[in-house]
Amino acid sequence: MITIIGAGKVGGDAALFSAIKQLDDQILLLDIAEGLPQGEAMDINHMLSEQGIDVEIKGSNNYEDMKGSKIVVVVAGAGRKPGMTRMDLLKINAGVVKDVVGNIKKYADDSLIIPVTNPLDPMAYITFKTSDFEKSRVFGMGGMLDLSRFKQFIHEETNSSRKEINALVIGEHGENMLPLTRLAKISGKPLPEIISQEKLDNIFTLTKNVAAEVIKLKGATVHAPGNAISAMIDNVVNDKKQVMPVSTYLDGEYGFSDVSIGVPAILGKNGVEKIIELELNDNEKDWFEKGVKSVKDAISGINV
Ligand code: LAC
Repeated sequence: MITIIGAGKVGGDAALFSAIKQLDDQILLLDIAEGLPQGEAMDINHMLSEQGIDVEIKGSNNYEDMKGSKIVVVVAGAGRKPGMTRMDLLKINAGVVKDVVGNIKKYADDSLIIPVTNPLDPMAYITFKTSDFEKSRVFGMGGMLDLSRFKQFIHEETNSSRKEINALVIGEHGENMLPLTRLAKISGKPLPEIISQEKLDNIFTLTKNVAAEVIKLKGATVHAPGNAISAMIDNVVNDKKQVMPVSTYLDGEYGFSDVSIGVPAILGKNGVEKIIELELNDNEKDWFEKGVKSVKDAISGINV
């Protein structure tokens, strides 16, 4: 069973995409709001019945119902309002995530946890520390979402097929994210050989800022995060061993320790199988280090 804690727009979309991809035969939506997870489950089940998809969505307000979950996604907490940064949610959401993870430990102690709540990297760190799970079992969704946007801007600039774009975004899921423009490729050809440095720099900036733009226009980001969550679940439950950017605990990788931040990793049925250490140039190292500092500063300000 897959459990999604937080039955708001993103959690509901993650359940929808996971059901359509048939990633498990049972998906549980959990929320403290009476009626919300139950209503969301009913709505998705109606859609699934029309499509003839035999995946059962359940809605509950009771943490105990997550017993037996293989994967638990944590989306619970407040979302950004227009004009806010993700880090502005730190104090509000730290307590929520700690409480949720305490319940995961109690009722789904052998699960894999995918934190999503913002600010993602500090929340992934809190999840790892509070759960006391092996670090391979906690991997946050942030880079996959940034990557969605990065690929869209590459697609728009080059008019290439989205299928032909190979790219990565690492570092903080926040103001210091690092879209790796130098290493992106289209049909195997390095992006810097296709477009100018000025255009690469523009795509870098657009990727970093576009979430705030979507929030200003429609109030929240929904489909891209929901899909990114389901893509990570797919990689795990089908043991695909694809490399994805995930926020996970570093123990010396990239020269940093005691921090959770976005790095490329091979995901499989047991979670993070291997962190991939890329050769970064000095500028990329500086950006990555800025993200590490931002996350460490955030962590130091809360009682983990
Ligand atoms: C975003 C939020 C989910 O990037 O962090 O849309």
